Amino acid sequence: MLETRAADARPFAISRFDPHLASAAEWVQYVAYWRLRNEEDFPHEPLPSDAHAQQFMQQHMPLHEMHRIVARDAHGHIAGSINMSVRREGTPDCEAHAPFVNVAGGVRQSHRRQGVGSLLLRELLALMDTQGKTTATFNVHLPESHAFLAVIGATEKHRSMENRMAFAGLDNAALARWRAEALAPAHGLCLEIHAGRVPFERLATLMAPLSALLEDAPTTGLARAPMRFELADFRAWYAEIDRRGGEHFLVLLREGDEVAAVCDASWNRLYPDRMFQRLTAVARRWRGKGLAKGVKAVMLQLVRERHPGVVMAVTQNAEVNAPMLAINRQLGFAPHRHDGAYQIGTESLRAFLSTRPLTSREART
Ligand SMILES: CC(C)(COP(=O)(O)OP(=O)(O)OC[C@H]1O[C@@H](n2cnc3c(N)ncnc32)[C@H](O)[C@@H]1OP(=O)(O)O)[C@@H](O)C(=O)NCCC(=O)NCCS
Repeated sequence: MLETRAADARPFAISRFDPHLASAAEWVQYVAYWRLRNEEDFPHEPLPSDAHAQQFMQQHMPLHEMHRIVARDAHGHIAGSINMSVRREGTPDCEAHAPFVNVAGGVRQSHRRQGVGSLLLRELLALMDTQGKTTATFNVHLPESHAFLAVIGATEKHRSMENRMAFAGLDNAALARWRAEALAPAHGLCLEIHAGRVPFERLATLMAPLSALLEDAPTTGLARAPMRFELADFRAWYAEIDRRGGEHFLVLLREGDEVAAVCDASWNRLYPDRMFQRLTAVARRWRGKGLAKGVKAVMLQLVRERHPGVVMAVTQNAEVNAPMLAINRQLGFAPHRHDGAYQIGTESLRAFLSTRPLTSREART
């Protein structure tokens, strides 16, 4: 069946895109669409080859399941898509994750304001109803995305920003000082560094203390399951790094067996000029003593030594995270993009969709 909006002469057909069942021709079309959409929303950002993109989308995610839906126009071209990620049943904490679905996707610029986004939201509502989900979360940065989410009745719950720093502007004397201050014997801390991979036996012992630090990072008003580092995620990530090339770096300051401060980062062979900063955190009782600066300084020196071709560091920070933003500013980080995290429940979604009745046939292949 074919579905159209009342005011829209063009039909859009909805179908599932399954990375494990798609034919070679379907992959060519899907990856071309994915590339175009990325170029539209993230202009000038480097993208991996088609083969790497396909491999990435085909990889098994042990903790999450992704539902990919596409909307095609009358010519069979992909007009828009929605990816809905849910926690797999039977995984740790799945009850805490059960109410939530994470949503990503969009509509080609050439096909916007024709009801495609709304059509895709019907698929979201259907999944939420079927699976008993109550809250969908969207991360957006473009003005039209904020406008769309406001119109559908979603609430902005959290703001974050991507900050970037040029290695060339680093103040080496300051880095050396930060490192020395954090490592001062008076603190009695010892430094633990892993470059490349962290052995799984060591990672296993770190999941609980690092999760406690992660959980303490501010996420403003987002409704969410507890944030945890999980070994299964690391296994999948390391398998991906093994395939495409890359490194994981971990810097710890320990008081005996306890983690006082952590900084972890990664390097991806597909984007060899960048360092991706991950978590930096200091245990509450160790705050205010320069430890965050210390672990960051150690990390930056480490990555620069291992990868002299790295020119830029990229990090994501909550807008409410004043301490982290202040440290990053001192290092030379500057805002590159502002993101908003929105959430919506089934009642609001249903209410919005009821204002956009479908008058015609529905196509689902
Ligand atoms: C957000 C997005 C998916 C909307 O797709 P779309 O197909 O244009 O949306 P619809 O045609 O169904 O719009 C539904 C209503 O939302 C509102 N809306 C959508 N875009 C808008 C804009 N740029 N300005 C103001 N209102 C807007 C309108 O009320 C619209 O109804 P109308 O056209 O009858 O006035 C699209 O702009 C996009 O791809 N943005 C970038 C990626 C993104 O944000 N994805 C979603 C979250 S991950």
